[in-house]
Amino acid sequence: MHHNFNFKDVLSSSYRAAWQIEDVLPQDAALDFGRRFLPENLARVDDIAFLSQEEKKVLNQIRGHEYLSIFGLVEEFILPFVLDHARPQLDGDDHRVRALLNFAAEEAKHIHLFKEFHRRFTDGFGTECAVIGPPQAVAAEVLRHDPLAVALAILHIEWMTQSHYLDSVRDDREIDPLFRSLLKHHWMEEAQHAKLDTLMVETLAEGRDESGIARALEEYLEIGMFLDDGIKAQTGFNLDAFEAATGRRLTPDERTELEKQQHQALRWTYLGSGMTHPKFVATLAAVSPAARDRIAEVAPIFC
Ligand SMILES: [Fe+2]
Ligand SMILES: [Fe+2]
Repeated sequence: MHHNFNFKDVLSSSYRAAWQIEDVLPQDAALDFGRRFLPENLARVDDIAFLSQEEKKVLNQIRGHEYLSIFGLVEEFILPFVLDHARPQLDGDDHRVRALLNFAAEEAKHIHLFKEFHRRFTDGFGTECAVIGPPQAVAAEVLRHDPLAVALAILHIEWMTQSHYLDSVRDDREIDPLFRSLLKHHWMEEAQHAKLDTLMVETLAEGRDESGIARALEEYLEIGMFLDDGIKAQTGFNLDAFEAATGRRLTPDERTELEKQQHQALRWTYLGSGMTHPKFVATLAAVSPAARDRIAEVAPIFC
């Protein structure tokens, strides 16, 4: 056993960490468009030599918009998955039932919060930013996979939000305070989700032989490739929004360079930072050392 998580303890820490949307986003609060929204570790705009400081700030804010949108999108498949996982266990352990239903309720709250933030962004930014989707289609594609593969993808997402906050946001005093508070509050509740997801992965892996695990892992990678296609398309939308917001026409060479560089930044944000998270890797290793090795082999592409 590589952890000491259990449903009862996770449930009580969930109740201690819980917040209301109004605490994070008060009625009169506005985003400060004079600041950046995402930490540089995720945005990766500073090294683009041909952009001005102002242009880097705008691209960073568009990345912030994308973060709100992509999280809204992934949480739309997490919610039904957790409900489906809870449903057959309603007669079982009471702590487990309550912890899973609370998990689902928190994700519904996060979807709501991300939408509200998105609305404030749109009100203040002034330029339309396109987003991949629709969320229902993304959810349908992800959820058609083996439940163990989906649970691994969700575990990856939960740990990824932990590292976004702890490694990049917590000590960053430059980014917009409201955005920082969003990432902090999301982190607070996701910390419990990561533990619940670990328990879900273990339940779903139970009794599978090595080939059953290997098949699920390949499906997890398929979900990853599907999301990678999505974020590649999103990179193009971000650059369209950048040109519209700044009025700058990128030359074909600049556009090609930015597409490549920013696609990699999105890969790190949504794929690499989850796949390489030590806790995600530890759960994989506990399920199957071969699975851990397979992921270690492909992860550098997404970092
Ligand atoms: Fe969430
Ligand atoms: Fe979550």
